[in-house]
Amino acid sequence: MKNLNKSYAQTKVLTDVSFAINEGTTTSIIGSNGSGKSTLLRTLLRLIEPDSGEIHFLDRDITKIKKKELRKVRSQVGFVFQKHNLVPKLSVLSNVMHGKLSEKKGPRYWYESLAPKQCREEAMESLRAVGLEDFAKRKTTDISGGQSQRVAIARALMQKPKIIFADEPVASLDPKNGEKIMELFYNLAKEKNITLIFVSHNVDHALNYSDRVIALNRGVINIDKDSKSCTKDAIGCIYE
Ligand SMILES: Nc1ncnc2c1ncn2[C@@H]1O[C@H](COP(=O)(O)OP(=O)(O)OP(=O)(O)O)[C@@H](O)[C@H]1O
Ligand SMILES: [Mg+2]
Repeated sequence: MKNLNKSYAQTKVLTDVSFAINEGTTTSIIGSNGSGKSTLLRTLLRLIEPDSGEIHFLDRDITKIKKKELRKVRSQVGFVFQKHNLVPKLSVLSNVMHGKLSEKKGPRYWYESLAPKQCREEAMESLRAVGLEDFAKRKTTDISGGQSQRVAIARALMQKPKIIFADEPVASLDPKNGEKIMELFYNLAKEKNITLIFVSHNVDHALNYSDRVIALNRGVINIDKDSKSCTKDAIGCIYE
């Protein structure tokens, strides 16, 4: 990302944001409420259109590509939201299969009972990766918050993504489950060589589960460091 700018009416939200991230690495983005973290993550996929600047990944010039190509890029990137947006009346397995919808359309990929065998098997494999294979038939209304977040991760894995963006993926979870999910995220990313960028308000998570920490302050990057060379105090001060 190079010199990215975004304003809403009179408010400047991102100012000349630039960084380069190596493939297969994990980066955390931290910063106070309203500092522009979610906006930054969303502009990467043009879910929010930036005003100016460049974005390059997956061998593409993201701000220049047409809608069809953008759709293709989005299908290769997993996006995990704070609210996992699962479909409540459907089974865990069906929800995981929906990861395929970015690539394949139609009801066959919507309901597990109609799905091609291979798709169901892939979904089971994703569920296994997050430790939820025994929950495949359960409705998503009947599982806990931590389990729901695992389903959302399994759904993202279904896309076989090279990149995952996650916006506060554990914010709604208790500390123990939050820790577990961050560990799972980090290990999966390393194991599958996925480039992971996640937003977090938890300084420990930023330090322990990322290779690099980027801090935003009112839309400007004020820290960009190797997480090993960061201390909790050094990055904690961004909240003062
Ligand atoms: N659609 C919008 N219209 C106008 N202003 C917006 C819009 N979306 C976000 N903003 C403003 O942009 C700024 C950055 O918002 P953003 O959601 O990126 O912050 P954040 O760092 O993710 O905050 P949080 O930690 O609370 O999630 C905020 O001041 C917010 O009020
Ligand atoms: Mg946010």
